Amino acid sequence: MQPSDEIKSKLDIVDVIREYIPLKPAGVNFRALCPFHREKSPSFIVSPEKQIWHCFGCQKGGDVFSFVMEMDGIGFVDALRNLAPKAGVILRKQNPKLTSRRNRLLDILEFSRNYYHKTLIQSDKGKSAREYLAKRGLTEETIEEWQIGYSPDSWDDLINLLKNKGFNDEEIFQAGMSVNKDGTSRFYNRFRDRIMFPINDVNGNTVAFSARVSPEKEQDERMGKYINSPRTMIYDKSKILFGLDKAKREIRNNDLAIIAEGQMDVITAHQHGYKNVVASSGTALTAEQVALLKRYSNNIALAFDTDKAGETAAERGIREAMSAEMNTKVIEVPEGKDPDECIKNNKEEWEKAVKSAKPFMEYYFNKTFAKLDLDQVDGKRAAAKELLPVLARLGNKIEQDFWLKKLSQALDVGEDILRETIRQSVPKTRPEYARNAPGAHGGAEAEPKQAVKQSREEMLSELFIALILKFPSLAEYAINRVQPDKIIGLPNKSLYRNIIIYYNNLIDNWTQEGGQAEPPQVSYGGFKQWLENSEVQENKDGQLILLDKLALLGDKDFFDFEIERAKNEIIKIAVTLKKHYLLNRRQEISKLIAQAEQEGNEDYIKGLMEEFQALTDEIREIED
Ligand code: UTP
Ligand code: MN
Repeated sequence: MQPSDEIKSKLDIVDVIREYIPLKPAGVNFRALCPFHREKSPSFIVSPEKQIWHCFGCQKGGDVFSFVMEMDGIGFVDALRNLAPKAGVILRKQNPKLTSRRNRLLDILEFSRNYYHKTLIQSDKGKSAREYLAKRGLTEETIEEWQIGYSPDSWDDLINLLKNKGFNDEEIFQAGMSVNKDGTSRFYNRFRDRIMFPINDVNGNTVAFSARVSPEKEQDERMGKYINSPRTMIYDKSKILFGLDKAKREIRNNDLAIIAEGQMDVITAHQHGYKNVVASSGTALTAEQVALLKRYSNNIALAFDTDKAGETAAERGIREAMSAEMNTKVIEVPEGKDPDECIKNNKEEWEKAVKSAKPFMEYYFNKTFAKLDLDQVDGKRAAAKELLPVLARLGNKIEQDFWLKKLSQALDVGEDILRETIRQSVPKTRPEYARNAPGAHGGAEAEPKQAVKQSREEMLSELFIALILKFPSLAEYAINRVQPDKIIGLPNKSLYRNIIIYYNNLIDNWTQEGGQAEPPQVSYGGFKQWLENSEVQENKDGQLILLDKLALLGDKDFFDFEIERAKNEIIKIAVTLKKHYLLNRRQEISKLIAQAEQEGNEDYIKGLMEEFQALTDEIREIED
């Protein structure tokens, strides 16, 4: 078995997709708003039975791997690597020369994390860091769960260990684990004598570290409280939220993501059972981070300490969130300075603060008004100048309207004037989040390619194939009633031809084996496998996607059909397609007749007329 097959057999596609988007039951399948294009009613379907997904809006579809690849914007190898642990599948270590550079860097980070963690919990060198963390209230389980570590005060211990493992100076440097003095070829450890917090991507791969100064050196101004991994091939801080790999499930369950500033806030929160907390790690919330969170919830609450809130660079992030139509609230943290201390000192206060979080706009209005004198023209102007750009970017127009009214009342300035000001200031570009959101490949607001509008007959052709896939026992019944040339749409026609070939193969094999037991059926899985391994050349991938789509279409449209009703449907479609075919044919004949009359070819005309009459009879017969 290929590792990818093993992973597929052990994972349920529904569980995997659920980690990204909420799924609602729909018949035998699940349904959701498509994460790959903007839509208002759900056309994204997941089949637990077939382990596939398809969007009837944007026509994307595939298996669990293609979903993760599309969603996370990664390649097949990375998808394999991410899904393997979830499936409990151990990937055989590949030849180091063959593994991609990215994976080499991930291996370096994983090795370093394990080394730092072991040093913290086992060695003498880690003793004071251990004591410090205990003093700050972290339990052993927490330290284990977050794989917190300690980097000894050494210039080269980690580098040497990594080299023994077969990694070279250049790779270690590229992974962000070493620094070198300009102009020399000597490298030394980037992190020395620090408490190490691994930073993971959303799948739990360690991609960077945030390293806190050791308690002894805390007072030393030159040290910098935290130093972090630099930007590398595997780490871009604007695309990572600290703790999201551990928080994503709870964010979905609570339908709320709480965003704190520091990793200690996140870790303490989780230890006390508040597991929907993540951190932007001291930087402004970015559009990419907002897009990442939007996969799990539309609600975010920012937990900043009271005096800093609002003034932090996070406001840019708040604007991103609001233009992404995220409901954004502000948690004003009482009791001490940050969530870490508040949670430790007084859980009730924390819970109260979360409950009474204010909508960001309300908070921002209050804050702005508090510092200005609105009776003065200067004050009004300043308030408008501060608030209008934020209002202008509100993705939700109803909300925008609401706050415009408020502002107009507060300033005693006409709404239309404010609106005009906004119109002049709004950038003509799309909001940043939309450009970076997964699946937003240019294309602006336009609905995805729904090709040219489908004809009724093309739609019926799809439904016809869908019926066969949904009711395999009716395959022969259906095949006997519709020839492939009656099927409209080239892809449908090719797929149907292949179904017939496959069916005939099955029957051949069955009769050769003596025709025992039940005759074979065209099962979705069997046919798919056959198609995958078949010699079919033209557009095999396209046919496979179409197959998935039609199988799901069958589930969707015929989930409550009895076999008799399905038969009726087959007949109805067969008749319509045949009539369509005959009408077309008759039209062609009449053109040919007209042509032949001009040429005066009597015999030919006679033949055509006979055919015309035969077609007309056949059509009339169908109509009765
Ligand atoms: P804080 O100064 O609030 O740190 O910075 P903290 O998490 O509360 O840490 P403790 O409680 O003092 O141990 C918030 C975040 O900003 C980033 C870190 O990610 C930190 O968690 N930061 C802070 C830096 O990157 N560099 C710094 O020098 C300081
Ligand atoms: Mn703190």
